[in-house]
Amino acid sequence: MQITKILVASALAATCSGTAAPLPTPAAILPRLSSNEWINYTTLTGFFAQDDPATNPSTFDYTTTNFGLLNITYPTDDEVDPTWTQWQKFEHHVWRLNRGSGRFVQYKVLYMGRHGEGYHNVAESYYGTPAWNCYWSEKDGNGTITWADAKITPNGVAQAQKANAFWASRIALQKIPVPETYYTSPLTRCLQTSNITFYGLDLPSRQPFIPTVKELFREGISGHTCDRRGTRTYIQDAYPGYKIEAGFSEDDLLWKPLMGEVPTDEDVRSKRVLDDVFAGDDSTYISITSHSGEIASILRVLGHQPFSLSTGAVIPVLVKAEIIQRDVPATTTLPWTALSTCSTVPPLPTAT
Ligand SMILES: *[C@@H]1O[C@H](CO)[C@@H](O)[C@H](O)[C@H]1NC(C)=O
Ligand SMILES: *[C@@H]1O[C@H](CO)[C@@H](O)[C@H](O)[C@H]1NC(C)=O
Ligand SMILES: *[C@@H]1O[C@H](CO)[C@@H](O)[C@H](O)[C@H]1NC(C)=O
Ligand SMILES: *[C@@H]1O[C@H](CO)[C@@H](O)[C@H](O)[C@H]1NC(C)=O
Repeated sequence: MQITKILVASALAATCSGTAAPLPTPAAILPRLSSNEWINYTTLTGFFAQDDPATNPSTFDYTTTNFGLLNITYPTDDEVDPTWTQWQKFEHHVWRLNRGSGRFVQYKVLYMGRHGEGYHNVAESYYGTPAWNCYWSEKDGNGTITWADAKITPNGVAQAQKANAFWASRIALQKIPVPETYYTSPLTRCLQTSNITFYGLDLPSRQPFIPTVKELFREGISGHTCDRRGTRTYIQDAYPGYKIEAGFSEDDLLWKPLMGEVPTDEDVRSKRVLDDVFAGDDSTYISITSHSGEIASILRVLGHQPFSLSTGAVIPVLVKAEIIQRDVPATTTLPWTALSTCSTVPPLPTAT
C-alpha cells in the first residue's frame, strides 16, 4: 500500500507545473508556435464509450458508465498496483504517453461539459424550432421569461448538481484525475453551470476551482440573443472568483444581430482557442464548460466522431496534439449568413 501511494503521488506531481517530481517530468507543454508550425489534433479512440461508433449518444448516460471510461487493460498496467481503479490506471497510462512523447507531441484529457438547461432551450421547445429561429430567438424574451444571455432553469441547476455529485463520487470511489485547469464560455449559462459543477468538491489545494473565462469557448454566434454575452464588468461582478483572459473586451464585439457565424468559421476559431490552450497550458487534465454547438465544433477539430450531448452532460476526450513543421494552411473563412426572419408572429405548434 505504501508503494502504491508513492507511485500515485509521483504520477500526480509530474502533471503539475513547478513541482519537483521523482520521475522525469513528461513533456506536458508544447512550445509556443512559430509561424511555420501547426498543431495537428487527433482523438485517441478505444478509451471511452463515446469514441465508439456503436454508442448511441441519445441514450448514453455518463453518470452510469464511469464517464464512459472503458474497462480495458492498458499496456502500462503491469507497472501499477492491480487494485488501482480504472481511472488511476488510465491516469498512469496517459502519464506514460506524455513521458515518452518527445518535444513536439503531448496528450491531454479534455472534460467538456455542456451547460444545464437554459431558458432559451425551454423556449425553443415551447415555440418549436422553426418559430424560434425565425422570430422568438431574435427577441430578448416574451414578457414572462428572458432568454437573452439565458440563465439556467431549475432543471438546469439540477443537471449541474447531478454533475457535481457525480464528480464527487468519482473522486471518492475512482480517484479520478481532476481538472488542473478550468475554462468556461463567457455566457451566463456556462458561468453558472461551471460553478455548480465544481463548487464544494474535495479538490487538491494546488488545483482549486478558479476558471478562466475564454471568449472563443462561447456558443456558435447565431444572431440569437441567447448567444450575446454580457459585458466584462457584468461577468466580473457576477463571478468575482473567476479569471477573465487577457484581451477580453468590455463589450461583446463578435455578436451581430440577425447574422450567424457559419460552421467552418466556428471550427477555425475553435482551433484557435484550442491552440491557445495547448500551447499555453501545461496541464494534462482540462475542464471546458461550453455549449452543444461549440463542443460539436471542438470534436470536429479533434477528429472525434460526432457525439451530441444533452444539457448538463460531460464528455471526456483523450487528445494527441502534434506540432508539425509545414506551411500553415491559410484558414478560409466564409461570410456569415443572414437569418431568415418571419414578419408575423408564428402560431404555436399544435398539439399532436
Ligand atoms: C495528423 O495526424 C493524423 C493521425 O496521426 C495523420 O493521419 C494526418 O496525416 C496528420 N495530418 C497532417 C497534416 O500531418
Ligand atoms: C466499467 O465497470 C464498472 C464497474 O463494473 C461499471 O460501472 C461501468 O459502467 C463500466 N464502464 C463501461 C464504460 O461500461
Ligand atoms: C413565454 O415562454 C414560456 C416558455 O418558454 C411560456 O411558458 C410562457 O407561457 C410564455 N409567455 C407568454 C406571455 O407567452
Ligand atoms: C460559486 O458559487 C458559490 C455559492 O453561490 C460562491 O460562494 C462561490 O464564490 C462561487 N465560486 C466562484 C469561483 O465564483
